[in-house]
Amino acid sequence: MASRVLVIGGGGREHALVRQLAASASRPEIFAAPGNPGTAALARNLTLDPLNYVEVLAACDAHRIDLVLIGPEEPLIAGLADHLRRAGRLVFGPGQLGARLEGDKEFAKEVMATAGIPTPRYHAFSTIDAALRHLDTAQLPCVVKACGAAAGKGVAVCDHKTEAEAHVRLCLQEQAFGLAGGRILIEECLFGSELSVLVVTDGQDYALLAPSRDHKRVGEGGAGPNTGGMGAFAPVPLSGDLCYRIDTEIVAPLLAELVRRDIPYRGVLYAGLMLTADGPQVLEFNCRFGDPETQVVLPLLQGDFLALVEATADGRLADYLQGLPDAETGGPDGWTGRGMTDWQRSAVVVVGAARGYPGPYRRGQPLHLPDDEASAWIIHAGTAAHAEGLTTAGGRLVGAVGEGASLAEARQRAYSLLDRVRCDDLFYRPDIAMASGRTIE
Ligand code: AMP
Ligand code: GLY
Repeated sequence: MASRVLVIGGGGREHALVRQLAASASRPEIFAAPGNPGTAALARNLTLDPLNYVEVLAACDAHRIDLVLIGPEEPLIAGLADHLRRAGRLVFGPGQLGARLEGDKEFAKEVMATAGIPTPRYHAFSTIDAALRHLDTAQLPCVVKACGAAAGKGVAVCDHKTEAEAHVRLCLQEQAFGLAGGRILIEECLFGSELSVLVVTDGQDYALLAPSRDHKRVGEGGAGPNTGGMGAFAPVPLSGDLCYRIDTEIVAPLLAELVRRDIPYRGVLYAGLMLTADGPQVLEFNCRFGDPETQVVLPLLQGDFLALVEATADGRLADYLQGLPDAETGGPDGWTGRGMTDWQRSAVVVVGAARGYPGPYRRGQPLHLPDDEASAWIIHAGTAAHAEGLTTAGGRLVGAVGEGASLAEARQRAYSLLDRVRCDDLFYRPDIAMASGRTIE
């Protein structure tokens, strides 16, 4: 098995990835670039720019890396995986063609249309006049989206025409998202509950990680603006019928369409779904692990994470899946990859964020963390280490992860750990993973 692994990225997701790799039976030596104070405890952090493939390749040579796992979307969309593969490296993460599913929402819509995958109706625009004219007759609420990747800030769900017009202007006139907002989609608004489905695939075979849900709005009960995610939980209870529909109406057709287009894909495909009264529909595809979903799906994995990552990168996912424990461990029928997850357990992550987030917030405030426990631990997202201790260094600061035999137990463990974080600027949502105990049809 790979013995020297490099994880690209430095957020909460990458800390969770490093933590799971570190638990591998083969005890790999782990490097993180740039990493964060959380990964520093388990890996060697390397200072390099993930968008500079020459630097990444030099680090791979210098540290004799034999497997690279790319966390964030930017380097994937920029083609880092292609450069590394051309240089003979084993990589987990799609190349530029596959990553376009996230980097170009209009392309993703076109792929979905060809594959017959259910997704909201939309119109695409590059000029303000045409977009504003469309809004004169568009149904409200509507959703205005920058076509390119805009770090989670490019989407506005608009109840009123004035809000939609403002987001159109933000993208096309003020160019707040640069080229990523140079073309926009105006999309039909869907209602229902959201679901994140993370699919591990090597382009031939695939398996689903536990169904998860993140809480995107900043305030209790879903109030306030969207954020990068204030918490998440897994597994989301689903009926077998719904699982079957997600697989046969969304995941399988998408992967078949990628094969038909000769787009190789080795890594995680993340489907962001809305579970509507008419069935599951795709809001977005991402080309990477979700943040903070990764923090809750990885602790539920059965089997060795390093082996899964390496087999996927190497096109041997089928072999890995064959070696998994029997699927009779529970989980809904129709969930491909049932054997990947321990369905007897649940995990919850509650994000502690800096007061003001997702608007302006302070940095540099002292932050004191409690020690990790066996069933609850802290994931670093926006922290900085100094000689005097930790300080705040981002909007989302930490995630407290709790694991347990039920969602209630996992939630209680996450909150009781987060309660012991000391920081004047910290706030969190009190209702993560609440009201979710029923099966969703
Ligand atoms: P996206 O980046 O496209 O997933 O959008 C970010 C968030 O905006 C989603 O997680 C949803 O909460 C919301 N959203 C996006 N598209 C729609 C839609 N068509 N209807 C309702 N909500 C949406
Ligand atoms: N949790 C949303 C994302 O990772 O894009």
